[in-house]
Amino acid sequence: MKVNKSTILLLTFFFLFISKNIFSQSTKTNEQRVDSVLSLMTQDEKIGQLVQFSGGWDTGAQSTKPKTGSEELIAQGKIGSFLNIIGAQTTKDLQKIAVEKSRMKIPLIFGLDVIHGFRTTFPVPLAEASSWDPALVQKSARMQAIEASSAGIHWTFNPMVDIARDPRWGRIVEGSGEDPFLGSSMSAARVKGYQGNDLSANNTIAACLKHFAGYGGAEGGRDYNTVDFSERTFRDVYLKPFKAGVDAGAATLMASFNEIGGVPSSSNRQLLTNILRDEWKFDGFVVSDWNSIGELIPHGVAKDLKQAGELAINAGLDMDMEASAYTKHLGELIAEGKVSMQTVDESVRRVLRIKFRLGLFDDPYKYCDTEREKNSVLTKEMRDVSHESAQKSIVLLKNENELLPLVKGKKKIAVIGPLGNSTLDPLGPWNQQGDAKQVVSLLQGIKNKLGGDAKIIFEEGCSLSGNEKDRFPKAVEAANQSDIVILAVGESLDMSGEARSRATLDLPGVQQELAEEIYKTGKPIIAVVMNGRPLTITWLNEHVSSILETWFLGVEAGNAIADVLFGDFNPSGKLPVTFPKYVGQVPMYYNHKNSGRPHNPKDNYTSYYFDYSNSPLYPFGYGLSYTKFLYSNLKLSAKKISTSDQLNISVDVKNNGLYDGDEVVQLYVRDLVGSVTRPVKELKGFQKISIKKGETKKVEFTLTNEDLKFYNLDMNFVSEPGMFNVFVGTNSVECLEDEFELTN
Ligand code: NOJ
Repeated sequence: MKVNKSTILLLTFFFLFISKNIFSQSTKTNEQRVDSVLSLMTQDEKIGQLVQFSGGWDTGAQSTKPKTGSEELIAQGKIGSFLNIIGAQTTKDLQKIAVEKSRMKIPLIFGLDVIHGFRTTFPVPLAEASSWDPALVQKSARMQAIEASSAGIHWTFNPMVDIARDPRWGRIVEGSGEDPFLGSSMSAARVKGYQGNDLSANNTIAACLKHFAGYGGAEGGRDYNTVDFSERTFRDVYLKPFKAGVDAGAATLMASFNEIGGVPSSSNRQLLTNILRDEWKFDGFVVSDWNSIGELIPHGVAKDLKQAGELAINAGLDMDMEASAYTKHLGELIAEGKVSMQTVDESVRRVLRIKFRLGLFDDPYKYCDTEREKNSVLTKEMRDVSHESAQKSIVLLKNENELLPLVKGKKKIAVIGPLGNSTLDPLGPWNQQGDAKQVVSLLQGIKNKLGGDAKIIFEEGCSLSGNEKDRFPKAVEAANQSDIVILAVGESLDMSGEARSRATLDLPGVQQELAEEIYKTGKPIIAVVMNGRPLTITWLNEHVSSILETWFLGVEAGNAIADVLFGDFNPSGKLPVTFPKYVGQVPMYYNHKNSGRPHNPKDNYTSYYFDYSNSPLYPFGYGLSYTKFLYSNLKLSAKKISTSDQLNISVDVKNNGLYDGDEVVQLYVRDLVGSVTRPVKELKGFQKISIKKGETKKVEFTLTNEDLKFYNLDMNFVSEPGMFNVFVGTNSVECLEDEFELTN
């Protein structure tokens, strides 16, 4: 065709006209706008929307710039999204290319792993789950969204909602532990925090539920490993927090690396389409994990990248993160009829839908305000929320003779251990742009608390994982010169997280030997344990007076721990995951099945370890306070209910100690006889309440038929009539108990 001046003018006018109309709010619904954009796109432009590249060279924001050549690809409409590119200005420069130079002017979406903070580091997710405080967790996610969005980020690859029953798996730190009910409530809280009430606001970001699904079930706790469990367990346990996140409005999900029963998630149509879209009515998009489409080849379900792309898109995987399968092969696959245009259109529609919901078509630069960026990071408000979250994430595991809280008098204190003055490790894994210079170490926190009044000696004693013991004598001397020892032990920040599986759960290196030497001095010891997973701190539990589980608490770690040590904050955290005594006991979780031969000490042929015990070191839901809570008066509104009734359950909780305190009151049930076996206990509710010393509070729960449903013998999600036990208590073991009957 001959192109003359007037044709060019006409075309320019036409494009200006459509871009004004399809992108402007006008009276059209988002869906109509999505359809109008889609109807104008070429096949290559459609494929481009399904492609995501990383700015850095690896899976962290190592570089804030795109790879060479990316600008050209953006201008050609061949990239729909980036990850690992940050900064209001950098993202603005790239966005400008997309909306000014590409034909369709479709804005890019920038994603990033904002897992527990962007520049202000909050406690790691497992720690925040220990708060059992969804409102707080939502507030923390809100802060993270405000900070990240100011640096050009539209979308976080979080929350990680994988149920994890095996602490050897390093990624247990990124989630909310072992329980589907607690996990669901944390999942919904984080989604609401990131996305706020209005996804199109400039300080909200899209959430991404990951890793869909079953990734936490890796055999042997080894990252990326095979997963194989029944569909029933998958649905009753592993899928629950995903469903909760979808119901809370999560915009996206990420397909996991693992296979389940022979089907890798990235090619799992049953999961990505039948369950997610058909059953749950999810209308956002699914992104792959890093090269997880390419990994269909080593998994052994695709012979090459082309076939991998075919399997993935036909399964319902919309966006390809870094495998280049869609860029390289989707065109051919369409031409060969292996992928229909309808399938591609549907994926593009989902991506566009989220871009519209984020308001990117209306203002592609809304996240690119450099002034806002400067003023939004590491603000006092961020630090305050991080501090509050850190206080509430701490779990008091032991407190013999009420050694804690310490009085703030003129005591001589020895802070001993490799984590005593670390400013790096409290950041934890996946700390994004966390900065050790911003972190208050434990030692500094204690100094801040005590001012000049106290004599504080610090000795590292040993490194975190080395074998040298040459500094033991100095540490022992420091202990001898002091009235009390605060022993800071645990893991370094990079011992948990992705690709950080461990075959042991002990304190690494010679840390326990250091503890044993300090113990010989006879000084009272308070162990402060920092770690990203349950550790087998069995020796510590048997020997030291007090233990604080502090996980990795972020920038305010030292201040928060000092608040607890010196009684300015009464600990209220509860474990979201069981602590085993020995690594050989794992996987160990409270909501297990009874088996046909539950352990009976009087009968040899029952299910137990003959060399060690069956009991955990600390059970799920466990955590002490400086005060004592007494439970009494468990009452059920009826002994029999029908499926249309609700059961009211109440209990009196008395604060019988010397301090005001917060308690997490936990409700569990057991379905005694079912068409399939049921767990010995299942969390069905919890309430965190403040009780003044001497005060008694009545705590009320309601149970409905919905709470009693599970996948029965025919895989129908129903309740079944029969007897149920009800347990209400301070953890999954110490409970008051009653029962009721469910009738038809
Ligand atoms: C791999 C991880 O599995 C995933 O959680 C993360 O979001 C992506 N890399 C992107 O960094």
